[in-house]
Amino acid sequence: MADYLSETKKRVTTLDLVRMKAKGQKIVMITAYDALFGALVDQAGVDVVLVGDSVAPVLAGEETTIPATVEQMIYHGRITRRGVRRALVVVDLPFLSYQVSIPDAVANAGRILKETGATAVKLEGGAAWAPTIAALVNAGIPVMGHLGFTPQSVHQLGGFKIQGKEADGAARLVDDAKALEQAGAFAMVLELMPGPVAAEVTRAVSIPTIGIGAGADCDGQVLVLHDMLGLNEGFTPKFLKRYAELGQAVRDAVSRFGGEVRDGQYPGPEHTHGG
Ligand code: KIV
Repeated sequence: MADYLSETKKRVTTLDLVRMKAKGQKIVMITAYDALFGALVDQAGVDVVLVGDSVAPVLAGEETTIPATVEQMIYHGRITRRGVRRALVVVDLPFLSYQVSIPDAVANAGRILKETGATAVKLEGGAAWAPTIAALVNAGIPVMGHLGFTPQSVHQLGGFKIQGKEADGAARLVDDAKALEQAGAFAMVLELMPGPVAAEVTRAVSIPTIGIGAGADCDGQVLVLHDMLGLNEGFTPKFLKRYAELGQAVRDAVSRFGGEVRDGQYPGPEHTHGG
């Protein structure tokens, strides 16, 4: 019993993820932005919970991830971490929190770890960011990379576009992945690239790749929770599979409540104190 308890209470580590790749076990990552959903996805057995800067478009109604701030990521990281007992929690470094200077990056990432209780941060970009990643890792901050379509550069990339379609772009992705591994990243997200390119990147590195819109040959998969639950109904890319239709379920439940209030069915005697 004691062994079972210590085993089930054990938190997933960055080393566990690298071992999972070596053993060919797929890694499951999902986003969450609060304690309620953090607890639910953790209870569902995911390996990694990502507090993504997608919180800006998904929850806060922004058009892109660019407006996300360090303060927002600390708030959402802290409340998500409260709900998560087993999974590894990773928090995104938002736009301009690591691009200005390496000391800035270490200070911002360090604050995020200290103030949220998360285990790691994620940042977007290739070989150009290797020195920043190395500085973070030297400071004791585990880093997940993010290659392919990098949403913070959406304007630079000219929109939500598949990356690495041409041979030179694909070769650059492989070189970037090797640079990230060399700099000390423990894993990387591969977003929106042809499946065969993601497969080549995955073979080129010994740290795990976690795909979103990058085919089946990555070492793991990530989806944005609100997208796969059908809560973010306007977002319908080819790679997205919806596992529930909670947007419709919310509308149905609230309109039934409204109808019952209006016609006097709710509250009934069973919902009334001293009735
Ligand atoms: O911010 C986010 O949710 C992400 C995922 C799409 C990987 O970076």
